[in-house]
Amino acid sequence: MQLRSVSELLTQNIILPEIEIKGWVRTFRANRFIALNDGSTINNIQCVLDFENFDEALLKRVTTGAAIHIKGELVESQGKGQKVEIQVNYLEILGDSDPETYPIQPKKHSFEFLRENAHLRTRTNTFSAVMRLRSALSFAIHKYFNENGFYYMHSPIITGSDAEGAGEMFKVSCLDAKNPPLNDEGNVDYSKDFFGKETNLTVSGQLEAETYAMSLGKVYTFGPTFRAENSNTSRHLAEFWMIEPEVAFMDLAGNMDLAEDFLKYVISYILENNPEDLEFLNNRLLDEEKTKPQAERSDLSLIEKLNFITENNFKRVSYTEAIDILRNSKPNKKKKFKYLINEWGCDLQSEHERFLVEKHFKCPVILFDYPANIKAFYMRLNEDGKTVRAMDILFPGIGEIVGGAQREERLDILKEKMAAINIPEEDLWWYLDLRKFGTAVHSGFGLGFERLVMFATGMSNIRDVIPFPRTPQNAQF
Ligand code: 4AD
Ligand code: MG
Repeated sequence: MQLRSVSELLTQNIILPEIEIKGWVRTFRANRFIALNDGSTINNIQCVLDFENFDEALLKRVTTGAAIHIKGELVESQGKGQKVEIQVNYLEILGDSDPETYPIQPKKHSFEFLRENAHLRTRTNTFSAVMRLRSALSFAIHKYFNENGFYYMHSPIITGSDAEGAGEMFKVSCLDAKNPPLNDEGNVDYSKDFFGKETNLTVSGQLEAETYAMSLGKVYTFGPTFRAENSNTSRHLAEFWMIEPEVAFMDLAGNMDLAEDFLKYVISYILENNPEDLEFLNNRLLDEEKTKPQAERSDLSLIEKLNFITENNFKRVSYTEAIDILRNSKPNKKKKFKYLINEWGCDLQSEHERFLVEKHFKCPVILFDYPANIKAFYMRLNEDGKTVRAMDILFPGIGEIVGGAQREERLDILKEKMAAINIPEEDLWWYLDLRKFGTAVHSGFGLGFERLVMFATGMSNIRDVIPFPRTPQNAQF
């Protein structure tokens, strides 16, 4: 007999006389109804058994969390709530689950509790739905780039360069443990710890992706990146996944078009392919909204928010225009931002970004042409000599979801910018080579994958959209 999945069986319209299924028990009611889930869908399949046909000792072992093997007949359901159910004629316990100690009880658990049980939290409806959507979004991302002529490039995890020039890197600790490099005093020299060289975990694959764009034309990376910033917010991780397309002969306007088209595509993909998981999360959020005071409730449901993205143009606004708007705005009852916008040139805080998106424009915003001094060294300097061709995409409820730029393609200006922040030319000689041999306009961006998953699932904490979150407090598992 062929093993079936719950999702496959639930869509059957016909009676199937001999089916076989394996999964985990969600609940067992009245010694008769097993709600079984195998992770293939948010829905459980009801398995009905006639307890007189089974050994009492066996039935006692049908507890929440136990892995079981069932054979039987798929029939039209007699009860409400499901179209089909399984009439069980064979039951085997594959793995017991002690009801006294199994952490995932059939009741509502707090997300904090489930974070401490991250190894089991995907046994719950919410986390299984989130992680199926995470998987679907990854697939949609590869599909988009594949359909649009991009090559997938694997950028290195261990690097000698700081792609963002911000110094937020984790050092790679002594790999050559048997032969550690020693300093003059004979102690381990942790500054030269990768076989005699200083290396870090990558903060971004962009610089390496640029080398591939300048030969293969259109490329993207999709891998883990690391930031040693001590940020304890609901939007920052020390280890997160980033998607970084990089395209030769494309300017900033093309970069904005690409990012908008790409985001619309991946969101449309899940709307079309994952309706059950989205509906479940949509309802979860509607229930949560009901507990809030009217004034704090969201105007749109999760699914409406996702549709809104796919149906509306993103608003493109320059940094200078945004500063004017913010200076003339009264954001709240106190009519003031916590961080005041004092002068042109200051960095925007998340309260400003969210005000622009959620209150002022009420749609996703692409901010561009930022002051050079608040952005990374590799961004293309504009003719005004003070702004760079940077772009950040801001999403409602999230803030910055994408950061990108047209890259500085002129050797002399790039060298000046590196010198200004003390990046030695020797460190990036290969990056400078791209500007010596066949340089050209090129652009790209980085999408924080977890921020996209947060938006797509309506989860409010980034720790709940990655399997095993790494934050300053948490690196267990
Ligand atoms: O704005 P960032 O730092 O840009 C870069 O790294 C560029 N090299 C990208 C490029 O042009 N190829 O990061 C890009 C995105 C941010 O917009 C945000 O969504 C996400 O990565 N991000 C984080 N996500 C989770 N935790 C963190 N600590 C993050 N830092 C950035
Ligand atoms: Mg950024």
